[in-house]
This record gives sequence, C-alpha cells and structure tokens, in this order.
Amino acid sequence: MSARVVRRDVVVARLDDLRERERIVVDVEGTELGVYFYADEVRAWYNVCPHQGGPVCQGKMMPRTVQLVRGEGGLKSGGPGFHPTDRNIVCPWHGFEFDVLTGKHPADHSVGLRPVPVRVDGDDIVVTI
Ligand code: FES
Repeated sequence: MSARVVRRDVVVARLDDLRERERIVVDVEGTELGVYFYADEVRAWYNVCPHQGGPVCQGKMMPRTVQLVRGEGGLKSGGPGFHPTDRNIVCPWHGFEFDVLTGKHPADHSVGLRPVPVRVDGDDIVVTI
C-alpha cells in the first residue's frame, strides 16, 4: 500500500484585508506561510528561507536595487537606485532577496522560495496545503 498525500483548502484572509496590508504571515496547523498582494496578484510562500531556514516572509518588502547608469552610452555609474516596479522580499536573517511574484533570487534563479497554491475565491484568499 502506498502513502497518500491529502491536501485541503484553507481560507487565510479576506482579499480586502490582504490588499490593505500587502503581506500577512499565517500559521496553518503549525506551518507558517507568507501571503502577499502586489501588482494585483496574490502569492503565497512557505515561511522558510532557502539559505538557512530563516523566517523569510517576516522580512520587509523593498524595491529591487539596481545600478543606475549615466553619460553617453550609459557607461558611467549613476549610483544605486531602485527599480520602479519590481519588489523583493528581504530575509531578516542575512538579507537574501526574493522577487515577491516569482519567489526567485534576483541573481540566481535556481534559488527561490517554495510556493503554496493560492487563489482568490470571491472575497476570500484560499491556500491549498
Ligand atoms: S536564512 Fe534567509 S538569508 Fe539567510
């Protein structure tokens, strides 16, 4: 006999509440999840950083840092700046960053957050665990 994985849907928030707060961390039967609303999209990630297991979803959401360029042909540094739309989750333990919508590390796309299936059902945010 083989083992069977049983999944179920859990309502974790109201859409309006998530819109307002942009990020919530919820505990679903001992499993912590971060649920995000950004750019009209909803995402959910396990609250475990792929670096050393830190509570990544409790980190700040910040604009992605970019290197600005200036001068003819854009060959001179314009100093650090921020991307106008991309947002990263910054892990509070060591500062690793992850795109809030893709979960990927900006420099190494083989590293990323573990997604949780999530959907909007009417006014409810529903995760499948
Ligand atoms: S545990 Fe997240 S950056 Fe190290």
